[in-house]
Amino acid sequence: MNFELTEEQLMIKEAARDYAQRELIQDVLERDEKGIFPTKHIKNLADLGFMGMMVDPEYGGSGMDTISYVLALEELSKIDASTAVIISINNSLVCYGLNRFGTEEQKRKYLVPLASGQIIGAFLLSEPEAGSDASQQHTTAVDMGDHYIINGTKNWISNANSASTYLVIAQTNPEKKHKGINAFIVEKDSPGITLGPHEDKMGMRSSDTHSVMFSDVKVPKENRIGEDGFGFKFAMMILEAGRIGIASQALGIAQGAMERSVAYAKERKAFGKTLAKHQAIAFKIADMAVKIENARNLCLKAAWLKDNHMPITVASAMAKQYAADIAMEVTTEAVQIHGGYGYVKEYHVERLMREAKLTQIYEGTSEVQKIVVSRDLLKD
Ligand code: CAA
Repeated sequence: MNFELTEEQLMIKEAARDYAQRELIQDVLERDEKGIFPTKHIKNLADLGFMGMMVDPEYGGSGMDTISYVLALEELSKIDASTAVIISINNSLVCYGLNRFGTEEQKRKYLVPLASGQIIGAFLLSEPEAGSDASQQHTTAVDMGDHYIINGTKNWISNANSASTYLVIAQTNPEKKHKGINAFIVEKDSPGITLGPHEDKMGMRSSDTHSVMFSDVKVPKENRIGEDGFGFKFAMMILEAGRIGIASQALGIAQGAMERSVAYAKERKAFGKTLAKHQAIAFKIADMAVKIENARNLCLKAAWLKDNHMPITVASAMAKQYAADIAMEVTTEAVQIHGGYGYVKEYHVERLMREAKLTQIYEGTSEVQKIVVSRDLLKD
């Protein structure tokens, strides 16, 4: 087994690290406080090739592997997980879905601008009554011959306002249950689409999240992805790839919290010595390091399986559940190590803790990941 990264992977990690430590850090607190979308950073990161990392250059991407993607997302998320999630959704849900399942025409029209970062994409699955139970789609897509008419409401949509291209999941044949669901490419400026207000979230505050309402939205038939009834499988397959992105994001949040805790423990004195010299603190940091290393290994293994075209359903669910759960634990301990300073914004760890919480919720809660893992173990 070879744990060594290639020169190219190390270069990509370094490029992400450099951008995060030099640029993202500058305004991350202000963007968090005011909920400002990182427009300038997304443009710069697109120029670095981070919006379509795993897409072939023929379709506007950078042709990198998933391991590089994990490394880059960890580095970005250490500093600014809100920016990282915008990138993650564009890469591992939207671009991945179009790259793998889109027709040549769909790729030319939509994937090229998405992967090159000229435009941003969003994935519209969740509904008021279809969160964890994703097959309960109430949004309808009625087949009208040469086009579909979409009606319904989607909730908690990341990139809803910044995106120009939506991947929308909707029910066409309710009697067929999940086999009647379809996926569509929908242009955000189509007549009949309106957005709810910007959600005032606890964390990831500079990524834009809204409800999206569809009222008689006309979508040409050629914008359906795959065969009639393929939409639920499509959603499941892109979500399992997307979970590698969110797991890497959680990993980065945890690593960022540990690095800040290490620096603080070496500097801050209590009872005549630095915190680092107090075993109660040193052991907390050791526990963080072991958890983070485990999470990193799960992320890299899932990425390696994906790069080698092997099944990732269980590996990505394990990575997402574990990395998100330990991110919550590590950031909570980071706040504890920082004491009162940890509870104020200037020291960043309270923000990391708020960000960690969302990684346990979106792209499938930790409980959903346990459903995926346990079903695999317990199947007949
Ligand atoms: N790959 C391929 N096919 C899959 C699959 C996978 N990973 N998972 C399920 N399927 C197929 C099954 O094989 C089955 O097919 P057949 O009918 O042909 O046998 C079909 O899909 C139904 O499978 P299940 O019975 O397992 O489906 P379920 O309804 O019980 O789903 C679940 C279980 C895993 C909990 C699923 O509902 C799920 O993943 N829920 C979470 C959804 C989610 O992640 N939501 C987050 C929204 S997106 C988001 O957060 C983006 C953002 O903005 C940040």
